[in-house]
Amino acid sequence: MKNDPQLSDSATAAHDLERLLRLREQTIRERETVTREREAEIERLCGLIAQKDQEIKAIQSTLAEREQAIVERETANREREAEIARLSEIVARREDEITALQALLFERERTLRQFEAHAGQTQAQPDQPQSEAETVPVNLMSLVDPAGALREGGLDSLLKILDRVDGWCTANKAAKLYELASSPDCGLAVEIGIFGGKSLLPVAAAFARKGAGVIYGVEPWENAVAVETATNDVNDDWWRKIDLVAIKRNFFGHVQRLQLEKHVRVLEIPSDAAIPVFQSARYADKIDLVHVDGAHSVEQSVFDCAYWLKLLRSGGHLVLDDINWPSVALAHEFLKSTAILTYSVSNDAEGHFSIFRKP
Ligand SMILES: C[S@@+](CC[C@H](N)C(=O)[O-])C[C@H]1O[C@@H](n2cnc3c(N)ncnc32)[C@H](O)[C@@H]1O
Repeated sequence: MKNDPQLSDSATAAHDLERLLRLREQTIRERETVTREREAEIERLCGLIAQKDQEIKAIQSTLAEREQAIVERETANREREAEIARLSEIVARREDEITALQALLFERERTLRQFEAHAGQTQAQPDQPQSEAETVPVNLMSLVDPAGALREGGLDSLLKILDRVDGWCTANKAAKLYELASSPDCGLAVEIGIFGGKSLLPVAAAFARKGAGVIYGVEPWENAVAVETATNDVNDDWWRKIDLVAIKRNFFGHVQRLQLEKHVRVLEIPSDAAIPVFQSARYADKIDLVHVDGAHSVEQSVFDCAYWLKLLRSGGHLVLDDINWPSVALAHEFLKSTAILTYSVSNDAEGHFSIFRKP
């Protein structure tokens, strides 16, 4: 039987269509597999995003907690700082009160002594010879308003007032100390060896004029301490006999009459004992000016220069007195080798002192 060509063609076409259909189904199955894989990937990524969002939320909340803690600490610190400032003010006020009371006490003692002297005179006792020091406050009182004169007249008035104060400070030295203390960056000074205040008062007066600054005088006013380490026989003998109690009383009288209480603090202890006070955080590296004029023995002058130079801030000034004394020579040499000499003079009219700046 002969094949019908028309029938054969349609069989081929049907076969092709069937193959095409199978291919399409195959493709559709493959696409479905890819779609399922993509959906699984999308699902995995969504899960990952949700997990990351969770982590971000957790970090954000930790961050917020930390920020809150920082704010709380800052508030607490501000409160502490305010409390420190308040307490420092109370301490400063107490110190002022102590200085004022000390001055008042010495004034009362002086009045008492005057009453005693008067009572003695009325009983026809022979006059006690008054030391030069005891007459000084009376002379100062004879000035009309010495505090006002000091405030108005500056250095000129100060020099006139100093004529009546016990001590060994030349007008040139007083002017140099006044100039150093007048500098805007000088607010804390220390003097080792006040005696009657002749070199302390120029610094205090400069502070009073600019309305800021405190000078700490370190002075035991004790004969035994003054001769603890030897200088020479004549000098040591003089220091054994001088009435340091009267000198002290006069000093406080001057401070009170010149209304310098706010700018003067006194540590009635030897310089060695004052060192720990100034090593504390309150004063460490804050001293702007030191005047070394305590005991003039070799050991004490070297000790004072070495220790007080250490306590001075960098850029601060140290004044060493009596550089012409053989016993002070070693201390002077020490300073020359460790600090910068900015001024030096040695004659009786202007004084015998050097000024050093700490590098
Ligand atoms: C030369 S006078 C001071 C003079 C005073 N600066 C002036 O210019 O008029 C020395 C003073 O140092 C005091 N002094 C002695 N030994 C001392 C020490 N270890 N520490 C502090 N001061 C001392 C003495 O009592 C004495 O008043």
